[in-house]
Amino acid sequence: GQNKRRVKNLQEIHFGEYHIETWYFSPYPEEFNDSPIIYICEFCLSYFISEFQLRRHIKKCNIMHPPGNEIYRDEEISFFEIDGARQQTYCQNLCLLSKLFLDHKSLSYDLLPFLFYIMCKQDQYGYHIVGYFSKEKNYTLNNLACILTLPPYQRKGYGRLLISFSYELSKIEGRIGSPERPLSDLGLLSYQQYWYETILEVLWDTKEIGEDFITIDEITAKTSITQSDILFTLYESGICVYQGQVCIRLTEAMLDTSLNSISRKRRINIENLKWSPPH
Ligand code: COA
Ligand code: NA
Repeated sequence: GQNKRRVKNLQEIHFGEYHIETWYFSPYPEEFNDSPIIYICEFCLSYFISEFQLRRHIKKCNIMHPPGNEIYRDEEISFFEIDGARQQTYCQNLCLLSKLFLDHKSLSYDLLPFLFYIMCKQDQYGYHIVGYFSKEKNYTLNNLACILTLPPYQRKGYGRLLISFSYELSKIEGRIGSPERPLSDLGLLSYQQYWYETILEVLWDTKEIGEDFITIDEITAKTSITQSDILFTLYESGICVYQGQVCIRLTEAMLDTSLNSISRKRRINIENLKWSPPH
């Protein structure tokens, strides 16, 4: 079946200004299996077997951004919301592309129930896709199904921005959320870091206003992070340990150092988010 792991078929993609080595198998049509390189239009994500074909396509392709509504813009970063049912070709191309970097997930090729949030960096040539996440329209708990930062952009804080965006949407919806499992190693690391930093910020605010304590429920209400993800983070990070009773190991110095580094990271400025929940 389509979901079985298979040997990596393609070696490299040519994508915008980047040549990107692929990580895993992706079910592009069979005629692409003989070719180690696949040429992808960075705007509509159509794929071609030769550079000649891509060039010919680019002359006709007049799309400069993902085919959806721009719901966020903060300087050069924008988010577009795409409905999987309305933009099937684009979303299918996106899934094929992202499967090249996703191993564990049996990517769903039924795109209709999903929304896609595409993060782009803008320059004079257009909106270049940096990463995206998908989300089920009728989700119960999972406010994120799949997440990807394209390799040339990884380890620069964009994953954090995508995760943060997914929680900002949940806050507007007045709901709590958690990513769909299983997560990849990189996905888990990124979430752990985001949860840790977000909880520290809440603890910092609590201290600033002179409160002595905050409950898990209150942290959930402020962040949309689930109680179990918060507890997991508190123990995993060593903020809390259990020694017959729960002990908190967080010192003011730890808080200071961490806040200092967090304050330099990319963040979502919610005043730039123009979105209301779809119904
Ligand atoms: N090694 C160690 N820690 C890492 C890491 C790596 N290669 N990549 C991310 N992290 C951790 C770090 O703590 C990092 O914060 P820091 O750089 O301040 O220490 C934090 O995660 C966030 O990193 P960030 O730069 O914001 O993430 P990213 O843009 O690289 O994107 C993923 C993270 C998971 C989206 C990206 O690795 C990816 O697309 N992977 C392939 C697809 C995938 O596995 N998706 C998840 C399952 S659906
Ligand atoms: Na690009």
